[in-house]
Amino acid sequence: MRRAKQAVAVPIIGSLNGVSTGGWIEFAKKIQQAGADAFELNIFYVPTDPALTAAQVERMYVDLVRDVKAGVSIPVAVKLGPAFSALANLARHLDVVGADGLVLFNRFYLPDFDLERLEVTPRLALSHPHELLLRLHWVALLHGHVKADLAVTGGVHGSAQVLKSMMAGARVAMMTSALLEHGIRHLGRVRGDLLDWMEAHEYASIMQMQGTMSYRSVAEPAAFERANYMKVLSSRRACGTGCASAAMSRDRTSSSSTDRRAEASSGSPTSRPSWFASNLTSSSRQELPPPSPPRGRRR
Ligand SMILES: Cc1cc2nc3c(=O)[nH]c(=O)nc-3n(C[C@H](O)[C@H](O)[C@H](O)COP(=O)(O)O)c2cc1C
Repeated sequence: MRRAKQAVAVPIIGSLNGVSTGGWIEFAKKIQQAGADAFELNIFYVPTDPALTAAQVERMYVDLVRDVKAGVSIPVAVKLGPAFSALANLARHLDVVGADGLVLFNRFYLPDFDLERLEVTPRLALSHPHELLLRLHWVALLHGHVKADLAVTGGVHGSAQVLKSMMAGARVAMMTSALLEHGIRHLGRVRGDLLDWMEAHEYASIMQMQGTMSYRSVAEPAAFERANYMKVLSSRRACGTGCASAAMSRDRTSSSSTDRRAEASSGSPTSRPSWFASNLTSSSRQELPPPSPPRGRRR
């Protein structure tokens, strides 16, 4: 951290993956003392214990952020995974304890196994722009609901993905795989493409576009709720297989081919609350009972 601060003029954000609360706080303080401008908690935690409830896991996240915030004075961002049953609620709790940023989402590296040697093998795959969609979806949903700045990480490869992240409501778009693939000079190209697109589409600043495609701003907010419903499935029949591959190759191109208006109108035309929201009765809002063993299982 000290060497990085001496070498460059841009702000440096320290990132930490810890295990115990004591360890997180101790290292967070050290990173601050070394000159970090901000700090990211990368909570890479897989709750494998079946006795652990979702509420307990979320409580651990919230307590950790509150404790780390109390130990440092620099801004603290939290990098989250997507696998929460009530992400918006967790985001709100993290907001309340003072998280300055939410980084969406951690990519969990999934081990494969070798069929011949019957060994689990680690596999590091770089990201694909298609991974951006999950991030866009959640940034668009959370924008305006939390005070914390939102950052997108996962699938940002070019200026098109940066623009989409900003329009969904992010303040930050992060890039790792693309820089590993194309080298550090890629950043200059992305910046150039971004400025060209903004000039061609008459945007004077990034701020002007931030959140313009968020849940709150689009004409069809219900389209954001329909992650996998009948309309989405039938849109594939109407479109044929060519549409999906065309969309993927468009995502890989530079920002100059991004057409904001076409994408803004791609939501489906009806506006209804989702089935899940309208069927959430007061009894289903109560805490779930402990699951009973499956029928027929031998004891
Ligand atoms: C080689 C490699 C090392 C990484 N190391 C870290 C790390 O130490 N901490 C972290 O929070 N994320 C780490 N990541 C995840 C990235 O920060 C990022 O969230 C992820 O790669 C998705 O973004 P991308 O599509 O821009 O690659 C790493 C990713 C790669 C490919």
